[in-house]
Amino acid sequence: MTVFSERLQVYQKSVESALNCWLPKSSDQPERLHEAMRYSVLGNGKRIRPVILYATGEAFGIDLTSLDGPACAVEIIHAYSLIHDDLPAMDDDELRRGRPTCHKAYDEATAILAGDALQALSFHILAHDPNIKVSAQQRLSMIKTLAIASGSKGMAGGQAIDLASVGISLSIAELENMHVHKTGALIRASAELGALSVDNVDQNLLSRISQYAKCIGLAFQIKDDILDIESDTETLGKPQGSDIAMNKPTYPNLLGLEGAKKAADSLYNQALECLDGLDEKGNMLKAIADYIVNRNN
Ligand code: IPE
Ligand code: IPE
Ligand code: MG
Ligand code: MG
Ligand code: MG
Repeated sequence: MTVFSERLQVYQKSVESALNCWLPKSSDQPERLHEAMRYSVLGNGKRIRPVILYATGEAFGIDLTSLDGPACAVEIIHAYSLIHDDLPAMDDDELRRGRPTCHKAYDEATAILAGDALQALSFHILAHDPNIKVSAQQRLSMIKTLAIASGSKGMAGGQAIDLASVGISLSIAELENMHVHKTGALIRASAELGALSVDNVDQNLLSRISQYAKCIGLAFQIKDDILDIESDTETLGKPQGSDIAMNKPTYPNLLGLEGAKKAADSLYNQALECLDGLDEKGNMLKAIADYIVNRNN
């Protein structure tokens, strides 16, 4: 096992155990809603947003315990976005993380409510977690960062652009804008929340890591588009070919598979440039960038 995969597992275990604690018990009323929330969050996810958050936080010298709450907050927003993304009104998909999507396992109304309740839980965690050891003002900055990244100028806005673009041919700049919002915003916020988990953050380092995260966030969605063509349903745990079936604008659609791969590689190189001079602090972040463009699911 490489140093990277060992650390990856530490991060994944850490966020999964914290998620298990923050999520309401299935036996709490209303049971069906709480079950659906747990089902969607605790499924088999890669936890890449928490991983980015932990690695950034560690680069700033922050301990994992202080990072668990923010890591849960981004992962929970992400899980809510997936539940809603899969609904019949959006991508109409039936498989997620190798299991029936939330609305298939439960029902549409429960899936909508599970997404709503998860979004609220995420902000509850940022507001209340006693292990986040920063000033009240800094905690507010963390809440604001996640709110902007999740809302109409971030992920939800990107999803609106995605839905409005079905069957339309976008320019490369328009496609990039859509990806930067629907996926990039939350990935960038993950890095920023890691950095903001300490008071008096080094602004120069923060802006370099934020730029790094912008590059890997866009690369992440380009790779997701590529995998929708090149991978298979079992490996992905979600339906391969969903973008083509729904006539979605994607990077391979616009640039061809080779063009899309070149775009992802170029973003990978740009991401590494942002980390220049960071010495061993940047090693985990470099390995994450590599994982993002070379992953198979
Ligand atoms: C899928 O995200 C949705 C996109 C933004 C591309 P992930 O690929 O991170 O999904 P999980 O969390 O591992 O299931
Ligand atoms: C989803 O993008 C981005 C979100 C904000 C959830 P996709 O629609 O491409 O994600 P998958 O392929 O269904 O995971
Ligand atoms: Mg979608
Ligand atoms: Mg989808
Ligand atoms: Mg996709």
